[in-house]
Amino acid sequence: MINSIPFFDKKVIFDSHAHYDDESFNEDRDELLSTLHLNGVCGIITCGCDNASTKNAIALAEKHDFIFAAAGIHPDCIDSGTSVADIEALANHEKVKAIGEIGLDYFHNSDNKTAQKELFRSQINLAKKLSLPVIVHDREAHEDTLNILKETKPKGVLHCFSGSPETAKQILELGMYIGVGGVITFKNAKRLPEVVEMLPLDRLLVETDAPYLAPEPFRGKRNHSASIYFTAKKIAEIKKMDYMEILEISAKNARELFNI
Ligand code: NI
Repeated sequence: MINSIPFFDKKVIFDSHAHYDDESFNEDRDELLSTLHLNGVCGIITCGCDNASTKNAIALAEKHDFIFAAAGIHPDCIDSGTSVADIEALANHEKVKAIGEIGLDYFHNSDNKTAQKELFRSQINLAKKLSLPVIVHDREAHEDTLNILKETKPKGVLHCFSGSPETAKQILELGMYIGVGGVITFKNAKRLPEVVEMLPLDRLLVETDAPYLAPEPFRGKRNHSASIYFTAKKIAEIKKMDYMEILEISAKNARELFNI
């Protein structure tokens, strides 16, 4: 059990986006994963970023009932040597519930925009072929991401949403979900509270992006799924609701989207 997070007798936290294959979990991964239920965690989607990390995500999903995997090539891993055919082979596993994490990242690399867009499109097409949702990463690429989503219309989630309420509106019009993580608790989160305020409850997913983006009061530390407690409390404050209700609705949404 994690200190400073209350014991939950109800399992209501579904973390729709994490990276438990990350090396920062190497020393205590199984110990951590086997205690998260004490803090209310009932489900996790752990995302792949290339062939190797997708295989690791699937191995974790095979080991723990409440963990599910996403298979994909992250835009930062475009040079990993992983092909879309590799991802297709891995995505046939019964615990793979989405194609992700895929998308565009012009913050880390803006020299290969054409290649990133091509890879994004072909992985969306794979998701549609396999009737799986997509988990989309968009960093400093709002316009191109939105245009590709409008053109291809996949079902899925825009994870760790960082756009404006206007962009959120267009994402919602496409029928997609919006992922809200620890950033909502940061003092400098400017537009995100406005997005959360306008976001219909049936399109909200809570997430961590663990080990990254830990919410306050853990900002800067290694993140894990139980910390969603703090994220949900902040969302509840904005929505003037009870945080348990936020967690229950979000878990229901995740089960619907990922067909769990
Ligand atoms: Ni991620």
